[in-house]
Amino acid sequence: MREKSVVLSGVMLMSALTLLGCQRSQDLSGVDSACAIDATDGPSRAACAQAIVSQMSIEQKVAQMIQGEIRDVTFDDVRQYGLGSVLNGGGSFPQENKYASVQDWIDLADGYYSASTDASGGSAGIPIIWGTDAVHGHNNVMGATLFPHNIGLGAARDPELVGKIISATAREVKATGIDWIFAPTVAVARDARWGRTYESFSSDPSLAASFVAPIVEAMQAEGVASTAKHFIGDGGTLRGDDRGETSLPLDGLVSIHGQGYVQAIDKDVMSVMASFNSWYGKKIHGSKAILTDLLREDLGFDGMVVSDWNGIGEVLGCTNDNCAQAINAGIDMVMVPSDWKSLYHTMLQQVDDGVISVERIDEAVTRILVMKMRAGLFTRGLPSTLAAQYDNQIGHAEHRAIAREAVRKSQVLLKNDKGLLPLSPGGRYLVAGPAADDIGLQSGGWTVSWQGTGNTNADFPGGTSIYDGLQAQVEAAGGSIVSDINANVDAAIVVFSETPYAEMQGDIYSVAWFDQRGERDLIQALSDRGVPVIAVFLTGRPMWVNDILNDVDAFVVSWLPGSEGVGVADMLLRDPSESVQFDFTGRLPMPWPALDVNVADRDLPVDEFLFPLGYGLSVEDRVVWSDVSERLIGADNSLDQEVFNGGPRGNWRLYTGDSSDWAVEATSSVSQSSSGSVKIKGIDRRVQEDARRLTFTSALATEEGRLSQVYMQSEYPTDLTDLNEAGGALVIDFRVVQKPTDSVSLRMDCKYPCSGRVRFSKVLLDAPASEWTRKSIPTACFVNEGLKLDRVDTAFVLATEGDMTLDISEIKLTTMPEISSIVSCADLVNDKEFASQ
Ligand code: BGC
Ligand code: BGC
Repeated sequence: MREKSVVLSGVMLMSALTLLGCQRSQDLSGVDSACAIDATDGPSRAACAQAIVSQMSIEQKVAQMIQGEIRDVTFDDVRQYGLGSVLNGGGSFPQENKYASVQDWIDLADGYYSASTDASGGSAGIPIIWGTDAVHGHNNVMGATLFPHNIGLGAARDPELVGKIISATAREVKATGIDWIFAPTVAVARDARWGRTYESFSSDPSLAASFVAPIVEAMQAEGVASTAKHFIGDGGTLRGDDRGETSLPLDGLVSIHGQGYVQAIDKDVMSVMASFNSWYGKKIHGSKAILTDLLREDLGFDGMVVSDWNGIGEVLGCTNDNCAQAINAGIDMVMVPSDWKSLYHTMLQQVDDGVISVERIDEAVTRILVMKMRAGLFTRGLPSTLAAQYDNQIGHAEHRAIAREAVRKSQVLLKNDKGLLPLSPGGRYLVAGPAADDIGLQSGGWTVSWQGTGNTNADFPGGTSIYDGLQAQVEAAGGSIVSDINANVDAAIVVFSETPYAEMQGDIYSVAWFDQRGERDLIQALSDRGVPVIAVFLTGRPMWVNDILNDVDAFVVSWLPGSEGVGVADMLLRDPSESVQFDFTGRLPMPWPALDVNVADRDLPVDEFLFPLGYGLSVEDRVVWSDVSERLIGADNSLDQEVFNGGPRGNWRLYTGDSSDWAVEATSSVSQSSSGSVKIKGIDRRVQEDARRLTFTSALATEEGRLSQVYMQSEYPTDLTDLNEAGGALVIDFRVVQKPTDSVSLRMDCKYPCSGRVRFSKVLLDAPASEWTRKSIPTACFVNEGLKLDRVDTAFVLATEGDMTLDISEIKLTTMPEISSIVSCADLVNDKEFASQ
């Protein structure tokens, strides 16, 4: 064993001094001799951490336990409070700039680091640790290599390749000066309706767990702390509800959802993130039985437990800034993005009151310091010094090559009639479908933005779409790609996809693929003309697509391949030189559904399958297709649709506008119309950013026209005739924050100027101020005012020339509005106080 004590140098020396609260060298040597800050064995590290903790004030210790979000933590905050950690959430960047450069990331990391080690404000001077969701590559950073999401890696079944992916990811993360990754997600997704299914490697516990050891090993070998998440049962909730209820006896919980943790703990994973779900009605964030008894005592974890985003606030009786129960249950570090300051004060009070013991705090802080030691924070100096050794790693060609290989290996071939694939690269092909040339759709959620929406190909410098890959290879072989759907071609490749989503917003009721953007009609038309059709499906989960499977000649499940779309092209085309022919080796990591819902119990996952887990053809296989049933069982619900719930749903998009530009899509959490007369901001109603605050400021409107609006529109009009006949309504959940000062109109449009417009100010003025209210406006009221039901492209337009502030959390179209919420059409004809309009 090495001799105790290393020389504490530079910054560390200074902070150790301050830590001791005194400048006398004999005290320093006291810590110094007990403290091997760069010790490599567990016991010496622990001893060192304890020695530091024993010198810290309670304020310094509590601060170490808190993790705030970069949007809400300044350098001064860090200097003053000595926060233990920051994170950047999904879609959060330096200066809130999506296009932040690598240098911007490094500068921010340096700024936090320097502030944290500056003890002049009374902090302990301990280096801060920054955590990020690099869940499929360093996905918040412009130009990073984006690897297939976990579900695709589960199909590729190559743990060694996954190890390479993680090393590459860790290097890209280090290149930005960040030390900690919130991955791997070791969830076992049991119900594909869960919006995080793609973050899971497989529905099979042992297959999912098989990737975990190589990941933890590779990540930590690069010196980056890893996190096994979300403990425990995230993939097992009833109905696949994100943050729902997983009720299984403990042994089942562990054998199904715990196997990844067994692997991760075996490889000394540095941290575990608690899960939002409940276990027998109790939120895991507040459960000592789970976070301490199970995780530590039974599974033997001795690292650090971090809570999930405001997860403590979901515990019964808690709020985001107050939850002694979570700390006592075993949360060591609290992820509390915005309310950290207030949490800091409550925690101090709770220690004072004896609600949280000092022993518990010491235990947590010791674990945090051990993790920081293991991640090398005390010895590596400024993040930029380390990042300098990883120069040019973002989007490095070698990383892209690894990603491309992973894309190839993850493709699963479900149908290949008459051996249509691979295609000769010298042919003439139609490449069509809205997803063919869209790297954002290829990449899914947790991609540049949180939900993965609002990105264009320009947001993926260095990446390739499937179209790019096909075009390059076909043209190089003397073939051609056409886009005219009526052209004469050898075959058509139609790429279709889900709309990107992440947690919560990706939950669905049935696994039927409904994201209609005309693909079904296109495929039908092509196959009617006798054109051989290859369908390529970009999806985060197995879905019911029986009709498409019947109609096409070949069907490839691409999952969410990420930035290297060229890897898909590699698989569709024969190698021109015939030297390397890639075969389809991807196999389903989850069974593929035969039905859209579970017939016996809709709360349970579909249990009838077309293809079992492990299915997948190789190009040599000849399987004769016999048509499968196209009957949708859950279809009786399909008249209802969500327009907005947490975020835009289905094909609906949120826009704002004023007379200088009527259509500005609001894709990020803060957007505004071009004059600034409307501002839209993500706010929390029940969970993060599940609502929007709409602020109308007429003074900012342009002189030519004061009208400003917010609306939900789709490129693909919908027919509401049946919904209207069934007594359907547009349902809006809102809260009036500042009453309207002028008339407000509400419209549904059938491609403007086709429109039905009602007056909405009376409803808003009569609603209780500052309280959430639900109102259902019968679609018939819009029909009375001119709406044509067969082509509704805008489900909701709210417009005013005045001022108002309104929060909206849900907008939907339903055949069954709650009676008490229905507004009569008569109330929508006159405006209460604004008779002039
Ligand atoms: C934030 C993301 C964050 C996510 C966590 C969102 O409100 O914008 O940054 O990752 O919540 O669930
Ligand atoms: C997610 C985590 C993620 C965290 C930080 C949470 O909402 O559940 O997986 O690590 O946000 O963005």
